[in-house]
Amino acid sequence: MNSDPNFDKYGAQIIYYKSSEDMKELKDSSIDLIVTSPPYNRSKIYSDDKGNVYDDQKSESEYEALLLQVWSECFRVLSSKGMFFLNTGDSASNQGFSNKVAELVTRSGFIRLQTIIWLKSFLGRGHYTPSGRSRRLNNIFEYIFVFVKDQKNYQMNPQAIGIPYADKSNIGRYAKSDLRDAGNVWFIPYSRTTGSTIKKGHEAPFPIELPYRCIKLTGATSILDPFAGTGSTLAAARILNIKGVGYEKFPRREVIQQRISEHQFFPPPVNLLPHLEQTIRKYVELSHMITFADLLDHKIFSFTKKEFNEIRIAQDVLDNLRQDTTLFTDYLTYYYTQIEKSDHGDKRMELTEFFDKPDK
Ligand SMILES: C[S@@+](CC[C@H](N)C(=O)[O-])C[C@H]1O[C@@H](n2cnc3c(N)ncnc32)[C@H](O)[C@@H]1O
Repeated sequence: MNSDPNFDKYGAQIIYYKSSEDMKELKDSSIDLIVTSPPYNRSKIYSDDKGNVYDDQKSESEYEALLLQVWSECFRVLSSKGMFFLNTGDSASNQGFSNKVAELVTRSGFIRLQTIIWLKSFLGRGHYTPSGRSRRLNNIFEYIFVFVKDQKNYQMNPQAIGIPYADKSNIGRYAKSDLRDAGNVWFIPYSRTTGSTIKKGHEAPFPIELPYRCIKLTGATSILDPFAGTGSTLAAARILNIKGVGYEKFPRREVIQQRISEHQFFPPPVNLLPHLEQTIRKYVELSHMITFADLLDHKIFSFTKKEFNEIRIAQDVLDNLRQDTTLFTDYLTYYYTQIEKSDHGDKRMELTEFFDKPDK
């Protein structure tokens, strides 16, 4: 943390402590991607580092004016090939709120492209705040509305956040690699409860994996969050080593600093887990048939053609993961921990050696 009260900088990520109604620090068309979640105007009490407490409740017209102004600034700073992912949720007492916020985005000039459902909990996995009791069902999802500035100019690559084919004969038929578009329902559970962060004066942060997916999907090299909160978007930018800019009017700088340093402990993105699971299982299975010496000597010719192909597919998946070099080791550690207790746990070092060995 620096001593300047107006901003903090973490490598290529900067966060300004002011309202995003005016983002004069950013040039026109200088940002590739915007990912944000706005204040909900539900008489939320915010507090900053110094213990100042703010009740941010505005009248409906003041709230609309604030969002319109921020979305207009977003429109100005986004490049013509840029994309905007807006996360909001409806509260029990304010059904339809999210659509109203999305409508203000289109009024600022953006084109609404599609809606992603962020599923926070599924079949008992994942945390959410119970809201139902006996009068309604608990709300376990939020929206991520997707907007563009120019419908002809944006690009995304769904395979970058894809999942492996269940039927491997589809590889080559629809795509070269074992990855397919996973669709517009994103299951991203919180890795832990958000209660303590909320108590510290913040609305629930979104998981770092949410902006992480948006960056991967769009291949953006710069990202903006005009309502940065705890800094989740900047943490994702840091993980993927891209430029990140945030604005936060009521900062808790220690919380932000802690969040941004979480890139070191980022859990494996859930949609990528099947790749790794399959891959490692396959290696473990195959490595069972060969000796440690074979692995070191790269004696892959002792495999049958089918086994050899399976290894190639596994290698493709690993190469794909390996692009996230900082994450790769985490994935392996995570999965080795999972299989450590299994019969094949003793193959751990051998497999690591095998992966690390450069191609001859
Ligand atoms: C829903 S929270 C964002 C949470 C964030 N996505 C995260 O993961 O931590 C909205 C944030 O907007 C901030 N905020 C409210 N009015 C603002 C303004 N005019 N300019 C910048 N930030 C503002 C609030 O302090 C709050 O932290």
